[in-house]
Amino acid sequence: MDRDKTVCYCMGITNGMIQDAVEAGAKTLEEVQEQTMAGTVCGSCRENIQHLVDFFVKEKNNV
Ligand code: FES
Repeated sequence: MDRDKTVCYCMGITNGMIQDAVEAGAKTLEEVQEQTMAGTVCGSCRENIQHLVDFFVKEKNNV
């Protein structure tokens, strides 16, 4: 996982910032959006963010 890869271009949000939001307690796309503002502009990145959230939540629960 490349933490520096941008996932939301409108807000300049990277994979790592999504991961940090999940680490900070966000469990859903909506909660990540509230914390980071990712996916709140054009919305075209929402599906990708959803995948990342699912991935990081799973990863977090496996540790
Ligand atoms: S690329 Fe994320 S809201 Fe537009």
